[in-house]
Amino acid sequence: MKKSVRDVDVRGKRVLVRADFNVPLKDHGIVDDSRIRAFLPTLTYLIEQGAHIAVCAHLGRPDGAVNAALSLAPVAGRLGELLGKDVALCGDCIGDQAEKAISRLDPGELVLLENTRFHPGEETNDPEFARRLAAPFDVFVNDAFGTAHRAHASTEGVAHHLPAVAGLLMLSEIKIIRGLRENPEHPFVLILGGAKTSSKLPVLNRLMDRVDHILVGGGTCNTFLVAQGVEIGRSEFEASCVEAAGNMLAVAGDKMVLPVDAVVAEDLRDDVETRVVPIDAIPKEWRKVDIGPETVKVFARHLSKVKTVAWNGPLGFTELEPFGEGTRQMGSVIAELDAMTVIGGGDTIAALRSYGLDGAMSHLSTGGGAFFKLLETDDLPALNVLQDME
Ligand code: 3PG
Repeated sequence: MKKSVRDVDVRGKRVLVRADFNVPLKDHGIVDDSRIRAFLPTLTYLIEQGAHIAVCAHLGRPDGAVNAALSLAPVAGRLGELLGKDVALCGDCIGDQAEKAISRLDPGELVLLENTRFHPGEETNDPEFARRLAAPFDVFVNDAFGTAHRAHASTEGVAHHLPAVAGLLMLSEIKIIRGLRENPEHPFVLILGGAKTSSKLPVLNRLMDRVDHILVGGGTCNTFLVAQGVEIGRSEFEASCVEAAGNMLAVAGDKMVLPVDAVVAEDLRDDVETRVVPIDAIPKEWRKVDIGPETVKVFARHLSKVKTVAWNGPLGFTELEPFGEGTRQMGSVIAELDAMTVIGGGDTIAALRSYGLDGAMSHLSTGGGAFFKLLETDDLPALNVLQDME
């Protein structure tokens, strides 16, 4: 178990906290603030402890250059609303400006440091950048679970310069997701959707012996369908993974459940004509846009006595309303279960939220890639550098 912010003395200390504020934005506004809310327990604890707090985070992929559209200013505003007080944004996360802002903090006060990815050294994990980021502080607290699979300066490098412990969100994500991997209550069903098959294969390999069924939809199932010789029209698949997918199907046998029908359309537009067809009757010029109603029934049958569900990835193109029906119906089925239900990935959670089903799930992980990686292994770069309990 990792040491947490509660296991070290932060009272009156200068604390650098890494948060995951990579929130979806639209027209300079925050579309979903759940990652900001999820950070509040750690922040409140540090405030209560009278720490001098600087929060650092990334937003988007500015590729090492300042980009006003990816400033953390909207996050500072939202954090201030949630805390009921102004949160200052410091224009740089290193150097004189940051050092001055930190030295002016009274106990229990905080400053948000501007997007770490405005510096090229962040993503390259440049040791000198990490050293400068760490310089003004006594302790590093990493609460950015969503970014724990990245070996960046503010997630990994900085921990080589300061005593480094987990934040409260980080700790609870580790506990829940590791629990799914190591000790799930059975029957345990894994549901996979989203776009990519390649990113899911390592998790499938790792969990194959531990799950009772794996239900696969979204773009993820396309490569498996091709491996079975199914014609999928113009639906996208990963040619480089077909062989691995075929091998996995052979090992999995009945454990792996693929769609039996699909909603198909000629284009990805919400006003386009759609049809429901058996999975082996997808027209050549059409593409799969959602799982079909028979698949929902088959998937639901596999969930009837389930005790644990882990779900990552929408089962159709949920960004277009008519193609979200399969995901919505599966969400309704899962919402009614008497089971531990853990959902990972921003798109899946956003879809469930838009259907009003998010509140019915046991745990909504703040991680996408990190959720997956931790389902597979404990070997995440940002976790490896955090102190362990003795
Ligand atoms: C995420 O949103 O999954 C994390 O914040 C990591 O972001 P990244 O994929 O841009 O590294």
